[in-house]
Amino acid sequence: MADRKSVINLSDVELTLESGAGPVHILKGLSFDIKIGETVGIVGPSGSGKSSLMSLMTGLEQASKGTVDVDGLILNTADEDTLARHRLSRIGIVMQAFHLIPTMTALENVAVPLELAGVDDAFDRAAHELEAVGLAHRMDHYPSQLSGGEQQRVALARALAPEPAILFGDEPTGNLDYKTGQSIIELLFDLARKRGSTLVIVTHDPKLADRCARVITMSDGKIVDDTGDTASITGTETVSSKVAKS
Ligand SMILES: Nc1ncnc2c1ncn2[C@@H]1O[C@H](COP(=O)(O)OP(=O)(O)O)[C@@H](O)[C@H]1O
Ligand SMILES: [Mg+2]
Repeated sequence: MADRKSVINLSDVELTLESGAGPVHILKGLSFDIKIGETVGIVGPSGSGKSSLMSLMTGLEQASKGTVDVDGLILNTADEDTLARHRLSRIGIVMQAFHLIPTMTALENVAVPLELAGVDDAFDRAAHELEAVGLAHRMDHYPSQLSGGEQQRVALARALAPEPAILFGDEPTGNLDYKTGQSIIELLFDLARKRGSTLVIVTHDPKLADRCARVITMSDGKIVDDTGDTASITGTETVSSKVAKS
């Protein structure tokens, strides 16, 4: 793992947002490096900054300080067009709420973003992706006609369709019952592994965190633990886990 190429690199990243009551320091100096093909869980109590960190890595929010490098693009200095193209083609995102467009069929929900990204055979590709998530028989259904698990499968197909380098998830099983959540987790890891995608998932779900080779723990806007294959933060647990593996 050590000689793999880096796909995400954060260096001394801070996020400060202005509010009526003055500036709020949300992220307080984060640095880490994620290699191609790694599976990383981000855990920590509510309010610790997990979703804010996700917004920085997906280019929705810009860091107040430091650099955020995602798949070779420095997001801090990229212009809006470059960021938009990067988001459509290099990263996939699955959220807790499925965010499907209710007036579009499952097929259209997957195909339309591909068309926006300039893919020629968008509908063929979308159909192929829906087959891969087990929804070949549901392509012409609208989101309201699908169960929660099926809607999340459509969202997963949409996220994976552009063949992104990185798949981000923010509580992807948060709105699903246990059994359905488990099947989504299996699918997520299986598809990411087959395609060599890097997985970065924010979760409260211990089962989901367990499946990740590396777990980054946040508290109060800082990283307090980083354990696993390529942990880059110092700490006794990290060191002992490295020793145990070598
Ligand atoms: N737009 C905002 N303006 C001010 N504070 C915010 C904003 N968004 C989030 N926060 C605060 O930042 C902290 C981290 O939030 P968040 O990233 O959503 O945490 P988590 O996802 O770990 O629950 C919280 O204290 C939250 O209230
Ligand atoms: Mg959150």
